Amino acid sequence: MANYLAKRKAYASITEYFDGRAAKFEEGAWTKNPQIIGMFEASLPPSGPCYVIDAGGGTGILAKAMQPNLPCATFINVDLSYQMSLIAKQKNISSVLADISNLPIASGRIDAILLRQVIHYLPAPNLAVNECHRVLRTGGKLLLGQFVPFDEPDQEWMRSISRIWQSFVVDFLTATELKRLLISNNFSIERVQECIAVESVAKWIGRDKSISEDTSKQIWSIFTLAATRHPDPRTIHVEGNDILFNNRFLLIEAIAR
Ligand SMILES: C[S@@+](CC[C@H](N)C(=O)[O-])C[C@H]1O[C@@H](n2cnc3c(N)ncnc32)[C@H](O)[C@@H]1O
Repeated sequence: MANYLAKRKAYASITEYFDGRAAKFEEGAWTKNPQIIGMFEASLPPSGPCYVIDAGGGTGILAKAMQPNLPCATFINVDLSYQMSLIAKQKNISSVLADISNLPIASGRIDAILLRQVIHYLPAPNLAVNECHRVLRTGGKLLLGQFVPFDEPDQEWMRSISRIWQSFVVDFLTATELKRLLISNNFSIERVQECIAVESVAKWIGRDKSISEDTSKQIWSIFTLAATRHPDPRTIHVEGNDILFNNRFLLIEAIAR
C-alpha cells in the first residue's frame, strides 16, 4: 500500500510537470538533435519493424522524425501525460495514456521500442525494462537512449541538481548501470552509440516557466562553481552571460532474448 501511494504521488508530479511543459517541450534543442535522431534511425532498418512503441514518447517528436525512414511501421505513443500525448495525437501518432511499467499490450507483439529520456523518471526502471521485454517479440529491439553521467563523480553532481530542480527525477544511471539493467532483464546488447550535445544553462532553465527565482539562482550558482572546478570530460564554461556544458547521450540497442 505504501509503495502504491508513493508511486501515485511520483506519477502525479511527473504528469503535472509534463502537462505544464508540453507546449514548450520541443524548444529543447536535444529533442530534435539530428545526431541523436540519426543514431535511432541507424538502429532500425527501413524494411524492419511493423509495430514500434514510443515508450514515454511525450509529444511524439522522435517517432515523427523517424516515420519517413520507416514507411511500413505503425508507431504507438505511450505516455502518462495527457498534454504531451495530445500533441503526439495531433501529429497523427496513435497515443495511449498509460504507465510504461504496465503496458496495455499483449506479450510478444512488438518489433521495436523507443525509450528516450524516460528511465530517470521511473521509480522502478527494472519493472519497465521487464515490461518492454514482455511485449517485444523474441529478437525485437529496445532502443534505450539517455543522457548519462560521464562517470560516478559526475553522477553525484547531476543528482545535486535534480535535488533542487525536478526532485521527482529518481536517478541518473551510468552507462554501466543501464547495460546491467538490460542484461538482467534478458536483453543482449547489440551496439552502443554515443554523442555529445552542447547545452546552454540559460536556455535549459528558460524553458521551464514554473521554475522559481530561488531555484534558478541555485542552479546558476552550481554551474558557475562547476565552470571553474568540474573535471573534464563534461567541460563546462562561461560564454558571455551564459554557461555552456557538454551532455553525453548514449543509445543502447538491446535485443530481446
Ligand atoms: C523528457 S520526456 C521525453 C519524451 C520523449 N521520449 C522524447 O524523447 O522526446 C519524458 C516523458 O516520459 C513520460 N513518462 C515518465 N514516466 C512515465 C511512465 N511511467 N509511463 C509513461 N510515460 C512516462 C513523461 O510524461 C514525459 O512525456
